[in-house]
Amino acid sequence: MSSTNEIRRSFLDYFGKAGHAVTPSAPLVPHNDPTLMFVNAGMVPFKNVFTGLETPPAPRAASSQKCVRAGGKHNDLDNVGYTARHHTFFEMLGNFSFGDYFKEQAITHAWTLLTSEWGLPKDKLTVTVYHTDDEAAGLWKRIAGLPDDRIIRIATSDNFWSMGDTGPCGPCSEIFYDHGEHIFGGPPGSPDEDGDRFVEIWNLVFMQYEQQADGTRRDLPKPSIDTGMGIERIAAVLQGVHDNYDTDTFKALIAASESLTNVRAQGDQAASHRVIADHLRSTSFLMADGVLPSNEGRGYVLRRIMRRAMRHAHLLGASEPLMHRLVPALVSEMGQAYPELVRGQALIEEVLEREETQFRRTLDKGLKLLDEATGDLGEGGELDGEIAFRLYDTYGFPYDLTEDALRARGIGVDKAGFDAAMARQKAAARAAWKGSGEAASGEVWFDIAEREGATEFTGYTSTSGEGRVVAIVRDGAEVASAAAGEDVVVLTNQTPFYGESGGQTGDAGTMASLSGLRATVSDTSKPLGRLHAHHVRIDSGTVAVGDTVELKVDAERRDRIRANHSATHLVHAALRNRLGGHVTQKGSMVAEDRLRFDFSHPVALTGEDIAAIEAEVNAEIRANETVSIRLMTPDDAVAAGALALFGEKYGDEVRVLSMGRAGREGRNYSVELCGGTHVRATGDIGLFRIVSESAVSSGVRRIEALTGEGARRWLVGREEALKAAAGVIRATPDEVPARLAALMDERKRLEKELAEAKKALALGGGGSGGGTAAADETVAGVTFSGQVLEGLDPRELRPLLDAAKQRLGSGVATIIAVNDGKASIAAAVTDDLTARFSAVELVRAGVEALGGKGGGGRPDMAQGGGPDGSRAADALAAVKAVLAAQPAV
Ligand code: ALA
Repeated sequence: MSSTNEIRRSFLDYFGKAGHAVTPSAPLVPHNDPTLMFVNAGMVPFKNVFTGLETPPAPRAASSQKCVRAGGKHNDLDNVGYTARHHTFFEMLGNFSFGDYFKEQAITHAWTLLTSEWGLPKDKLTVTVYHTDDEAAGLWKRIAGLPDDRIIRIATSDNFWSMGDTGPCGPCSEIFYDHGEHIFGGPPGSPDEDGDRFVEIWNLVFMQYEQQADGTRRDLPKPSIDTGMGIERIAAVLQGVHDNYDTDTFKALIAASESLTNVRAQGDQAASHRVIADHLRSTSFLMADGVLPSNEGRGYVLRRIMRRAMRHAHLLGASEPLMHRLVPALVSEMGQAYPELVRGQALIEEVLEREETQFRRTLDKGLKLLDEATGDLGEGGELDGEIAFRLYDTYGFPYDLTEDALRARGIGVDKAGFDAAMARQKAAARAAWKGSGEAASGEVWFDIAEREGATEFTGYTSTSGEGRVVAIVRDGAEVASAAAGEDVVVLTNQTPFYGESGGQTGDAGTMASLSGLRATVSDTSKPLGRLHAHHVRIDSGTVAVGDTVELKVDAERRDRIRANHSATHLVHAALRNRLGGHVTQKGSMVAEDRLRFDFSHPVALTGEDIAAIEAEVNAEIRANETVSIRLMTPDDAVAAGALALFGEKYGDEVRVLSMGRAGREGRNYSVELCGGTHVRATGDIGLFRIVSESAVSSGVRRIEALTGEGARRWLVGREEALKAAAGVIRATPDEVPARLAALMDERKRLEKELAEAKKALALGGGGSGGGTAAADETVAGVTFSGQVLEGLDPRELRPLLDAAKQRLGSGVATIIAVNDGKASIAAAVTDDLTARFSAVELVRAGVEALGGKGGGGRPDMAQGGGPDGSRAADALAAVKAVLAAQPAV
């Protein structure tokens, strides 16, 4: 018996030896197809290779591709647990030829592997071909030697495979295994074909066409091959069991859930164990590929699957959350083939446990309501749609969970009633929103959000991907299309563009399409907090609602934004460490070229504070620890020590960012709630530099800082300035501080010398420069000495006048010092004359002439000033006029 792991290896080895490039499974979220929720076939990652848009990785390839069929077009969720072969998650083994070999070799390979390598008896195998495909029928006859009655022609779409409404397609040939007469069923095409006896194990698609959106088909550039074999089915065949759930992988998972619940997988309980095993696989693999539970889009499909499994765990009587405890069994079965499971194990366990703990809070009450509402119903009855809606809205029961819960009793659900209740709730939400005042400018966003749901953001894990255009807005109104030269807002169902929120600036980049659109995205906003609106200038071509567009974020710009955003978290932590726990974030702005962080703190930071904070942040950057992201309820996150913004509205779920080294109690340096985009590891920030610290308002300070290349350039700029300064004083940069200090000392000395020289000049009563010399004259019979001195320190006026009085013996002296255009005036009167003249009166007259007011002192010495130094001569004249006006003795 071959294990599933051995079968996978053997398949890939076989095709590897036959010249195929063995490629690893692509992630479950398709980045090359916005119409698809999850990868649901092995050929999906190669879609554009078949149609000729992308060059093949090799002429032929083989893979074991993870697939999910839940939500969207192919949805097997409802059947899982109740049949032998339905799964939400499965692996598709496939070999591909991209214009290399065609039907003959595809059939030869399939037949050789099944019958020679794996030894399946030829008489257990039957094939189908498309009814017109004589060539395939002939090849089966020749290569496999199958008789005509085991080469069945089928005229339906069963034998014409297409990926979806559009995309590569072609006739196909399916290989069936006969599980034996003891099982009910007939061969394909017979009335009993839906029985379980003949099971399709391998589908060989002869890719020849591409289905176009307008309904026509065009030929592919080269006929190609796409095959798909569900590993679970072939494992059942090779392990000699009929039921996929009896294969090794499922047996191990079911055994784990049996042992944890203490309930055997038999009777009614068998279905619950199967549901749990299947859903454990799909939910774990989805989370390993970056999907996390939410209330919209892919995240909601994940949550629906989880909750369905959790109800079955409850049915089995599990009194504690169960799912997360099964993850180790899954990792041991499948972790080797899919290392992403090992890498994601901690996250998967944590999210499962949290989701189950949360759901269990309402599960009992919801089930009780369900029992009450259906107590009177018998088989064939129908649950009131209103109740189903209440279960959804209040108790978190996804619609399909309610259906599943009633299935065993043969009771259905009134879907129309459920939909009507949902529509009423939406209308009420719209009415409430209309009254909120936001309506005037934003009704168009509300319409789009209601019709299309939230935009799915794929930009945490990638910076490019495809999106389907769901709306175009021009001048505030929706339009069907837009053309070159227009500025419009384009909304897509999914996008890697971050919409401005939480302080982080919106992404910029490009938008293009195969039909010739080339557009520049200058910014992305986030109306209503859930739509990502690309602000677009169309450079050439057109864009229309329904188009598929290629979205490319300017990744280098985004990297700079990431670095700045992560740095704000580190600086927040450093500020708290240095200044204290009273520091809380009051606002932030994260742009591509800088970051700003406002925080509560009563006084300015000192130079030492800034240096210490900068050093601490840079030490964390150099430690280069990986940044980890977890999803939690806001309450759990705060309980776990995450810094949350008070007054900020958080959804059911928050992203918790842990950054930096683990410290005491294992907590990371920084733990914060954040929806933004961040670096992979702190080393990506490169360098951190605070460039300013200032006050925003009372009690709130602001830091502005740079990171990475921006910080480096800033430092280079500083160095250039230093070098230039050094050049001016003819020193090396290192010598600058000492040389500048010496120059400053010298300047002080020179200033002093200059002042003394001026004083000497004034005392000397003559000389040149620095103003007018003292000139003695006789006014009203007394000697008057008047002088104007430019640049004289006003403090020198008094000593100079004292000296003048001495020199005159008997007389009046007035000196005006002019500095920066302003004047100080002082007057002195020798004691023998104070009875006749008052220095105060003289000064006041001078002050008035200088455009000022007042002036004061004593009769023998007074001082004042005026703004207009250019009128110093007038002031001296005014003083003389006062003298002259005094009556002679
Ligand atoms: N693409 C084919 C399928 O999914 C092989 O069945």
